[in-house]
Amino acid sequence: MGTTRRQFVAGAAAFSGGVAASFAGTAYVARARDALTPEIVAEPIASGVKHLALDLAERPTALPCFNGATLPLWTFEEGTTFPIVRMKLGERLETTLVNNLPRQGEYVSIHWHGLRIPNDQDGVPFLTQQPIEPGAKGSYSFTPPDTGSFFFHTHCNSAEHFGRGLVAALIVEGDEISPPDAELVLLMKDWRISPDGKFLPFITDDGAARAGTSGTVRSVNGVTKPVFKVPASADVRIRFYNVDPVRISEIGFETAEAAIIAVDGNGQPPIMLESWRLGPAMRVDLLLRTPPAGETVRLMDYFSKVPAVLAEFVSEGAPRRTGKFVPQPLKVSKFAPLDEASAEHIQMDFSATATGEAVVQMSDATGTTIGSLCLSTNTFWAINKEAWPSKDHQNLGAPLAVLKSGNSYVFELKNLTPHAHPIHIHGHMFEVLGSNLRRLPRFRADTVLLLPKERITVGLVAGDPGKWMFHCHIIEHQETGMMGYIVVT
Ligand code: C2O
Ligand code: CU
Repeated sequence: MGTTRRQFVAGAAAFSGGVAASFAGTAYVARARDALTPEIVAEPIASGVKHLALDLAERPTALPCFNGATLPLWTFEEGTTFPIVRMKLGERLETTLVNNLPRQGEYVSIHWHGLRIPNDQDGVPFLTQQPIEPGAKGSYSFTPPDTGSFFFHTHCNSAEHFGRGLVAALIVEGDEISPPDAELVLLMKDWRISPDGKFLPFITDDGAARAGTSGTVRSVNGVTKPVFKVPASADVRIRFYNVDPVRISEIGFETAEAAIIAVDGNGQPPIMLESWRLGPAMRVDLLLRTPPAGETVRLMDYFSKVPAVLAEFVSEGAPRRTGKFVPQPLKVSKFAPLDEASAEHIQMDFSATATGEAVVQMSDATGTTIGSLCLSTNTFWAINKEAWPSKDHQNLGAPLAVLKSGNSYVFELKNLTPHAHPIHIHGHMFEVLGSNLRRLPRFRADTVLLLPKERITVGLVAGDPGKWMFHCHIIEHQETGMMGYIVVT
């Protein structure tokens, strides 16, 4: 590397006028290498059942990043803030859950983000299942068809649920051709904490109508700038998750060489990492060549005006590798090939509505206000001019599109707003085909970051039949209108 990334970004930042300008700067983020590497398909490496028992409850917790405060987190299990569930490709996941959340009417369902599983296991209240009431139990059962770094979260009142920490990683193993020397799972999330150690409101109209209501404290795995010990001169796999409901980041290492080996769980020809942008819900698997013993590498977020240190890695022990860094690709999943020539084109416009429009509070049969459960009171955003909360979940409007299972489609995702939107589709992976603003490598992803005024085309082969959510993953945008669904028949 000639100029280091740090000098480069510092230079660019000197002329930037804040967030909007930082979008315009170093638009392209990585260079492709070994693009012709033949792909090896991941095959099942196990069978049998993996049991997972979740108990959603409030658990007062003093994470290191809380600076002495104890906060009423909501978590999936006792003793762990962010569970990391690991299973092997071919195993079936059998989940039982109890909703012990402490508030009346706090219904839940669990969405398995990025997993191509049957629609009735997708965990969207009213759309794919009845929500699970406080005190009630639920279950899920499916065999993940793909390897990769996935996660799960609830799908109702999610800004608060994410805000209180109700997020967990789900890792499906079986994609390594040769094992790395070590592996780390990093979950980046901010917290909204007042100076006196209380949660601040998770949603504000001001934030929801703009880029989202940001946290006040940054963390990776619940720690501000954690320091990890790693083997020296080794290849370390890092599964990096952006599980913040708001933050857009652009990660990179200050000095060391690293490669992107998977995006949203999808193995792909390694791309040497300069930096990579991740919006909420996006993941990237990196292979980092660590420095000699005693040296430190810093993982940075270059998106903010002043680059921020996310984590540090300290090398120790005998060197593991001596040759030059040649990132080993991962096995990839089987996907039906996209037939671009026959693909039907579908336009998806992401726009703002007239702000501040109050949504009529709707009541369900028992008189409970739906508005306090799944919907915000305002609509600020729309997809193809339709804002989701203008309709009851139980009484859906028209789908954004009706697709036929097995057919190819190209979506043109068009951002008509001055804000970025990470656009997510349930039960499918997009194949990113191109952008009008940036040179992007071709990759698969379940969430695609649309920059302000950007147009991105993505392809997909329609998967299992059902109703699949399609929404922005800045949760406040989702909950104030930027949400819809697609029907696959
Ligand atoms: Cu993680 Cu509907 O999404
Ligand atoms: Cu958005």
